[in-house]
Amino acid sequence: MSIPNKRVEIFCGTGGVGKTTLATSRAVALSEKGLKVLLITIDPAKRLKQVLGLQDSDSGILKKIDTQNFSEDNVENTFDALLLSPSHTLERIAKAEGLEKELDNRILKVLTKPYGGMNEIMAVLEVQFHLATGNYDTVVLDTPPGKHFLDFLGATRKIEHFFDKSFVEIFKFLGKKVSGESAPKKFLGKLVSSGVKKLLSYLEKVTGGDFVDIFIDAVSLLYRCREHFTSAIDFQKELGKEDFSNWFLVSSAEHHKVGEAMSLFTEAKDFMHGDNYLAVNKCLKPFLDNWHPQESKLKTLKSTMLTRENELKMFAGNNFKKVLEFSEILSSEPKVHVTDLASGWKLLPA
Ligand SMILES: Nc1ncnc2c1ncn2[C@@H]1O[C@H](COP(=O)(O)OP(=O)(O)O)[C@@H](O)[C@H]1O
Ligand SMILES: [Mg+2]
Repeated sequence: MSIPNKRVEIFCGTGGVGKTTLATSRAVALSEKGLKVLLITIDPAKRLKQVLGLQDSDSGILKKIDTQNFSEDNVENTFDALLLSPSHTLERIAKAEGLEKELDNRILKVLTKPYGGMNEIMAVLEVQFHLATGNYDTVVLDTPPGKHFLDFLGATRKIEHFFDKSFVEIFKFLGKKVSGESAPKKFLGKLVSSGVKKLLSYLEKVTGGDFVDIFIDAVSLLYRCREHFTSAIDFQKELGKEDFSNWFLVSSAEHHKVGEAMSLFTEAKDFMHGDNYLAVNKCLKPFLDNWHPQESKLKTLKSTMLTRENELKMFAGNNFKKVLEFSEILSSEPKVHVTDLASGWKLLPA
C-alpha cells in the first residue's frame, strides 16, 4: 500500500504500542528518501530522548540526528528532532513580541512546565511554526497516549475559549493595560459578570494583591501574544485536510489494543480524514511461519497463535480501510527496533 507524502504525519494510539518507535523509524525512512524531516515529540514522557540518545537539556532545541545510527545503508542523511518544551515555545513567541523581560513570572513558569497544562497548545504552535519556516517537507509528530492526544486535537478549542470576550473583560475590569490601552475601571467593570468579580476579589483577599498582580501579568502576556495562538486555529483546520496530513493509529498485535485504537479513532474521527492507517505493530506471523516445532503441544501453540493473529487482522481490516503491519523485533535494544521498523517502511510500495 503506497503512502502519499504529506506535510504532517501524526502517530497516535494508547500507551506502549510503539508510537515513539514507529514515528522515529518513519522519520528515518522519509529522510532516507531525501525528504527534509522534523520529528517532534509532544509526549512529556519523552521516550524519544532515550531512543535518540538526547539529554533533558536538549528540550526545546532542534537536534540533528544522523540516520546512519539507524540504518545499514552507508548514505549520509540527517533529520531534525525536537523534544517539545512549552517554556521554550513561549520564550520564542514572547521574544518575537519584544516581551521576553516579562517572562520572569511565577505563574507562567508553572503553566509552561511539561505537565503544566499548556503542552498541547504549545505543540500546535510549534508544529505550525516549523512548517511555516519552509525548512521541512514533513513534520512527523509523536503524540502522548490516548487522552492527551485528544487534548492535542482539541487544543485550538481551548485557544478560542482562552481568548474569548469574557477573558478580555477581566483585564479591563482590573484596569490593566491591554494592547497599550488602559480601560476605565468603573465603566468596563460593569461588563464583567458578577461571578468573575466575586472570584477575583475573593482571590485577592486570600492570596493578597501580589498574587493577583502576577496572575494578571501572566494572562496579559499571553493575551499580547494572542496572534500566535489564534493563528494556530487555522493550522488545525489544515490538519483535517486530506492533502495535508497522514494519520497513523498505532496498535500492537493484541485484540484489546486494536479495540483501544478503535475507540480512539471514534473519538478523534471529526479531525481525521480518509488517509488514516492502522499500524499493527509487533506482529508475530513472520516468526510463526518459520517455526516448525515437532512436539504436539508446540504445534498447537503455533496454530493457536497464528489463528489469533489472523483473526485480529481480519477484525482490523473490517474496521480500518488501510492496515499496515510491522513485525515484532527480536531484540531488547530500542535502537534495533527503530532500525528494523525503518526497513519495514521502506518495504512498503512507493
Ligand atoms: N516492533 C517492535 N518489536 C519489539 N519491540 C518494539 C517494537 N516496537 C516498539 N517496541 C518496543 O516497545 C516499547 C514501547 O514502545 P514505544 O515506542 O515507547 O511506545 P509508545 O510510544 O506507544 O508508548 C519500547 O521498548 C520499544 O522499543
Ligand atoms: Mg511514546
